[in-house]
Amino acid sequence: MKTLGIWSPKGGVGKTTLALNLAAAAYASGKKVLVCDLDPQMSAVDVFNDKKLPFTVLKGTPTIKPRADIVIYDLPPRTDIEILGETILVPLRASILDIRAVNKSIRHVLHKRVLKCVNAVDVRRQDERLLAMRMYSEGALLIKDRSIYSRAISIGKTVFDLDLYGANDARNEILRLYQTVFADQEELLNE
Ligand SMILES: Nc1ncnc2c1ncn2[C@@H]1O[C@H](COP(=O)(O)OP(=O)(O)O)[C@@H](O)[C@H]1O
Ligand SMILES: [Mg+2]
Repeated sequence: MKTLGIWSPKGGVGKTTLALNLAAAAYASGKKVLVCDLDPQMSAVDVFNDKKLPFTVLKGTPTIKPRADIVIYDLPPRTDIEILGETILVPLRASILDIRAVNKSIRHVLHKRVLKCVNAVDVRRQDERLLAMRMYSEGALLIKDRSIYSRAISIGKTVFDLDLYGANDARNEILRLYQTVFADQEELLNE
C-alpha cells in the first residue's frame, strides 16, 4: 500500500482538488484507492456525498488497515498536526508569498519524500509563468489553471468523469502528476 499526504501551510491552494483528481487517476489506472479527509472543512467528503465519485472518501483515518493499493490523505493547512503519508505533495500557487510560506514550514515534512506542486498556474501571466518555470527547474511539478477543475468539483465529479467535455488536457496533466508521485522507486532505479 502506498500512502500520499497532500499538505500545505496555505489554504485554497488545491489540496482537495488534487486529492480527488489524483484518486480518480489511480482508479482509472486500475488501483483500489481510498481518500481520507482530515480537514475539518470536510470538502472532499462533501464532494463524495454527491455520490458520483467511483472511489470512497472517508472522514478521518481508517480504524483498521484499509484494503487499498493507494491511500491519499487530504490534510488541513496546519503544522501542529501529524502529517500523514510516506510521500507528501505540497501544493502552492505561483506566488512569492506562497513560496516563502512553504519554505518556512517545510521542515515539518523534510524527513519524508516531499514533492512541491505549483497549482493553478495562469500561463497568460508572465510573472506566474516565470515563477512556475523557476520552481520547475528546482524540481516542482506544475498544474495549470483550468476552469474544468472547479467545474467538475461543483457537480461532484473529477476531470476523469467520462461525461465531462473538454477534460483531456486536465486528465493528461493529472496522469503525469500521478505517475511522478507514485513512481515505483525500485523500477526507477532499475531503468
Ligand atoms: N488547477 C486549478 N485550476 C483552476 N482552479 C483550481 C485549480 N485547483 C484548484 N482550483 C480551485 O481553487 C479553489 C481552492 O481549491 P481547493 O482544492 O478547495 O483548495 P484547498 O483544499 O487547498 O483549500 C477551488 O475553487 C478550486 O476549484
Ligand atoms: Mg481542502
